[in-house]
Amino acid sequence: MRALVTGGAGFIGSHMVDELVSAGAEVHVLDNLSTGSKRNVNPRAFFHEVDIRNEAIRSLVSDIRPDVVFHMAAQVDVQRSVKQPQEDASINLVGTVNLLEACRQAEVRKIIYASSCAVYGNTVKERMEETDPAAPISY
Ligand SMILES: NC(=O)c1ccc[n+]([C@@H]2O[C@H](COP(=O)([O-])OP(=O)(O)OC[C@H]3O[C@@H](n4cnc5c(N)ncnc54)[C@H](O)[C@@H]3O)[C@@H](O)[C@H]2O)c1
Repeated sequence: MRALVTGGAGFIGSHMVDELVSAGAEVHVLDNLSTGSKRNVNPRAFFHEVDIRNEAIRSLVSDIRPDVVFHMAAQVDVQRSVKQPQEDASINLVGTVNLLEACRQAEVRKIIYASSCAVYGNTVKERMEETDPAAPISY
């Protein structure tokens, strides 16, 4: 299996990369290192330093031709999203759309999006389901 992990130099993404590598997958990491670090990236993964907002990811994803894409690249700082909503949207919305378009062009069949429990707002429940209503309180 060939997997592409965006944000693979970050907290969750780097652990995902380790798991995929130990499962025998060919793993590619796409990350701009804005909060992540190359030290987190498994040495057996292929690293591509690029921003998900960059249209260059379209040819990159087409060249890699992943079977599955795990989308973990994100601006995760809530305070920053409130102070700089435009920048937050450019990464989390426009960057995601750019990635989806790259995946469409490369005929990627499966995309896993990390999202966040923050989409459910202040609801207190031990385990949330994808079908639970979204009630976000931040961008
Ligand atoms: N940390 C948690 O507890 C948690 C829980 C549930 C879901 N999530 C979700 O998982 C995802 C990753 O979270 P994390 O905690 O690993 O964050 P993180 O900040 O550690 O990792 C994000 C990675 O994305 C990269 N990145 C940021 N902007 C980029 C861009 N424009 N182009 C390319 N790369 C970019 C950063 O360099 C970093 O390596 C987020 O969507 C987050 O909402 C996190």
